[in-house]
Amino acid sequence: MIKAQNLIRDFGPRRAVDGVSFEVGKGTVLGFLGPNGAGKTTTIRMVSGFLPPSSGTVFVKGIDVAVDPVSAQKSIGYMPETTPLYEDMTVSGFLKFIAEVRGFSGAERNSRVDRAIERCFLGPVRNQGIDTLSKGYRQRTCLAQTLLHDPDILLLDEPTEGLDPNQKQVVREMIREMASERVVMLSTHVLEEVEAICTRAIIISGGKVVADDTPARLKTRSTKYNAVTLRAEGGGVAETLGKLPAVEKVQVLEDGRVVVFPKAGKSIAAEILATAQEKKWTVSDIKVDEGRLDDVFRQITATEDTKKKEAA
Ligand SMILES: Nc1ncnc2c1ncn2[C@@H]1O[C@H](COP(=O)(O)OP(=O)(O)OP(=O)(O)O)[C@@H](O)[C@H]1O
Ligand SMILES: [Mg+2]
Repeated sequence: MIKAQNLIRDFGPRRAVDGVSFEVGKGTVLGFLGPNGAGKTTTIRMVSGFLPPSSGTVFVKGIDVAVDPVSAQKSIGYMPETTPLYEDMTVSGFLKFIAEVRGFSGAERNSRVDRAIERCFLGPVRNQGIDTLSKGYRQRTCLAQTLLHDPDILLLDEPTEGLDPNQKQVVREMIREMASERVVMLSTHVLEEVEAICTRAIIISGGKVVADDTPARLKTRSTKYNAVTLRAEGGGVAETLGKLPAVEKVQVLEDGRVVVFPKAGKSIAAEILATAQEKKWTVSDIKVDEGRLDDVFRQITATEDTKKKEAA
């Protein structure tokens, strides 16, 4: 559905996107993550055909976006980061206008507008002027606009930004539901959203792809992955556990619990339990850490920043 090859985009002397490549097939919800200024929006704009790359190519369903943007854009619904809306139109007036631009008229146009209004829960504000909408409703109007032509590819730049928790949930469910027959590529800073809806995550930092994997596999890169936290009554708990061959380090928390970090790729829970039994410790409160995406995000993107500082 989308094939991006070695995308580069310079703004004057600044390289915003530096050799980004990826391929995405049907049924994927691709989360695009990265610190502010990493190049997410710039990449999405290039995929949408809105911004020409300095070099590199984007194919959308086999069409080179730079060669034939209009054909490519027929398959794309794009929700930009800044919600561009016509302030003096009403919600339904705006959606009708966009539907017409997309080539629909008469009853077909109206039913598409009604469907988009329904899907994005815009019923209560359909006749309200866009200039008087709250931020969340503006966001949803912009999302509704992307759905009018029922595109195969949705490019959503921070789609849940500014929505209340209920609406976040609604939009996430909508995205998940739509993705089965389509591709959704979204950027977000909300890592729980990535875990909740994305089947794949690309982390971009300094314009480069620094990770590309499923959220579950990314979490295993966390230093906390498989770490065991436990409360154990008995003698020399931290010292004993620190000496186990698969243990990297042990940390004693203020409340007396002990956190045991495994060496990379090791699993230590069974060994810890066996040791506790052998030493006759009383163990309570034991849990194995699944790893956290925000830790991985920080590990990966901080490393890149540090590298840059070292180079400078
Ligand atoms: N039109 C432009 N002219 C000059 N520089 C630009 C332009 N658009 C983006 N940039 C620069 O390119 C870099 C990447 O910006 P981009 O908007 O893609 O980041 P982002 O990952 O979307 O960040 P955020 O999380 O803040 O939305 C930034 O350094 C930004 O200042
Ligand atoms: Mg952005």
